[in-house]
Amino acid sequence: MTVQSWCVRIDASRAEYVRKKLLQKGLLDRSLRVARLGGDVLFPILFERLADLPADLKEKIEIANFEERKAVESDYKQYVKIPQSLVPLLPSSFDIVGDIAVIKLPDALLPYKSEIGDALIRAFPHIKTVALDKGIKGEMRIMGLEIIAGENRTETVHTEYGLKFKVDMKKMYFNPRLASERRRIASLVGNEEIVIDMFAGVGPFSIMIRKYGMPRIVYAIDFNVNAIDYLRKNIVLNHLNRIVPICADAKTAIEDLPPANRIVMNLPHSAGEFIMTALSKLEENGILHTYFISDKTKEHDFVKSVRTECTMAGYLIEVLRCEELKSYSPVASVYSLDLLLIKRG
Ligand SMILES: C[S@@+](CC[C@H](N)C(=O)[O-])C[C@H]1O[C@@H](n2cnc3c(N)ncnc32)[C@H](O)[C@@H]1O
Repeated sequence: MTVQSWCVRIDASRAEYVRKKLLQKGLLDRSLRVARLGGDVLFPILFERLADLPADLKEKIEIANFEERKAVESDYKQYVKIPQSLVPLLPSSFDIVGDIAVIKLPDALLPYKSEIGDALIRAFPHIKTVALDKGIKGEMRIMGLEIIAGENRTETVHTEYGLKFKVDMKKMYFNPRLASERRRIASLVGNEEIVIDMFAGVGPFSIMIRKYGMPRIVYAIDFNVNAIDYLRKNIVLNHLNRIVPICADAKTAIEDLPPANRIVMNLPHSAGEFIMTALSKLEENGILHTYFISDKTKEHDFVKSVRTECTMAGYLIEVLRCEELKSYSPVASVYSLDLLLIKRG
């Protein structure tokens, strides 16, 4: 059925970013299908939340027609048969990588994991496999996974910003939640830059940068042989060149590379260990994009320790940006930090 709704009308190039913002803030009306008009995307907004729209989006509101979604698409919880007392524990969100849903469950729901998996597949027909997230471990940051419903596989192809990433979730790290961050970094990459992606995985940063930035070359390092194997496949899948996969420890591999204009360091657990290595390879006026985990609101302590270390090593740096990227736990978050290397001593 078609209904009228308030919506935000956005140019398609900003649609992915705006969709994520609206979802994060719970403003999107998920009972209606997103619509397209010419080069614009129309996001239906919950009427009762219109006042909560950020100021820049308030300027973009209008009324349009939308198709209602079938109930099955929006709520998997109705299909799960579990004791009523456990219903509030059912997660409201989960990650989707390609056609695989990855979900975390509290212990009390584990006896019902297959039921929950089946319900997700019933509610979202494009999901073919449901995997239980048992936590990320080890230096290669690989997720422990147990298939709880659907096809027994962990390989899939994930699409973001028109790019394809083949990934085997059991053998390598991949996080679909970083799409906007990768796109942001790619948009900063200027003409002929030499870029080093120190912890490249299957290449989402390298490939996004190569596709949407203007680099001369991207060196993509990872010591997980499987990740580098998939990175090579992904370069071919996206018809790209000038990305150089390097299977090695970034700490030593970086020594053999030319000085870079930009370095990406996506290893939040060990950021502190590698910052000085990265800075030693950065040209003056080069930028380091690093990620770190900190207690919420205490991110400045980490930045302060980086400043101190830099001063002692004779590096003059400027913090261009430090922002919360995603929540990591109830008390900690992952932060994104952009540093400009002004001068080395
Ligand atoms: C958090 S993942 C990020 C992967 C990728 N950038 C992404 O966004 O999907 C970190 C990656 O760094 C790799 N890694 C960890 N320590 C490393 C090291 N010393 N040298 C090279 N790679 C390393 C892991 O194998 C893993 O693929």
